[in-house]
Amino acid sequence: MTQSKLTALMKRGTDLLGSETAIMCGAMSWVSERNLVSAISNAGGFGVIACGAMTPDLLDTEIAETKKRTSNPFGVNLITMHPDLMKLIEVCGNHDVSHVVLAGGLPPKGSLEAIKEIGAKVICFAPAMALAKKFIRSGVDALVIEGMEAGGHIGPVSTSVLAQEILPEIADQLPVFVAGGIGTGEMIGAYLEMGASGVQLGTRFVCAHESIAHPDFKKAFMRGNARDAVTSVQVDPRLPVIPVRALKNKGTEEFTRKQIEVAKLLDAGEIEMGEAQLQIEHFWAGALRKAVIDGDVENGSVMAGQSVGMVKAEESVADIIKTLTEEAETALAR
Ligand SMILES: Cc1cc2nc3c(=O)[nH]c(=O)nc-3n(C[C@H](O)[C@H](O)[C@H](O)COP(=O)(O)O)c2cc1C
Repeated sequence: MTQSKLTALMKRGTDLLGSETAIMCGAMSWVSERNLVSAISNAGGFGVIACGAMTPDLLDTEIAETKKRTSNPFGVNLITMHPDLMKLIEVCGNHDVSHVVLAGGLPPKGSLEAIKEIGAKVICFAPAMALAKKFIRSGVDALVIEGMEAGGHIGPVSTSVLAQEILPEIADQLPVFVAGGIGTGEMIGAYLEMGASGVQLGTRFVCAHESIAHPDFKKAFMRGNARDAVTSVQVDPRLPVIPVRALKNKGTEEFTRKQIEVAKLLDAGEIEMGEAQLQIEHFWAGALRKAVIDGDVENGSVMAGQSVGMVKAEESVADIIKTLTEEAETALAR
């Protein structure tokens, strides 16, 4: 009976995703590649490839390799500010990708239409009610609301506040997935009862056996507590940087230094604001790679959400999904 309650609450989510459970593993640059994505989808969840700064050719290979490893649906996360966004959408179309997740701000003109034209479902991040309503008018298929407890680039509002503000008003119009700070099935059950159709987790899946993250990156997660996952600080009011949540280390200080360097270039008129912001984003991509792939968790960026304190061991994706599902079922039965 409890199983059917969880299944019923997730139904709109699973119908939209085509997966067994409406648990998405959010795209994580360098981490969400062929191995983790296919493992998530094979275990009944919904994996999402992180395209990040990949070129269209690299994305082409990544999708092909993922398809070799799973016949279940998975998504591709594209960053709206990527200079080759339209080409990346085309690559998704060539592979009949079923779901495209657009992250990183307002989608440029024509991009939503282009995704519809390749026959994929489009999922967008709604960091505020006004944007959620705008996306619904533009015909997106689902929304993710992600709070500032999450790892990686974050907005200013907590998951609990976004859920209270947004779910009651729009959850009957389209499937909404809640993300940020979810570490247990109890929390999944609670958001489902509030009207969510599913959830998106990132941090909880980083230490999966199938994740290619360096052993030292995983160790840092297993040692980390919620209070260690801090947000980056903006140094110059003219240089609006999107905050990033990561484990505190030397890399955090390096980011402060990078901002001062970029601000000086702005002062000297050597670069424009757009270029300044791009340099900041490239800094993150490089720093994250250093930590995830090379295992330099002191100088690289160990992006992690506050739920990092609930990551205690390396487990298989199937076990993580099983635990979350059982916890959610038990909580819903109470
Ligand atoms: C290491 C790491 C890298 C991430 N990279 C991306 C990314 O490239 N694109 C994106 O949309 N979200 C990214 N995220 C956010 C996740 O997709 C997901 O929404 C988030 O982790 C959910 O919150 P949680 O960490 O509290 O579970 C990243 C998160 C982490 C922890």
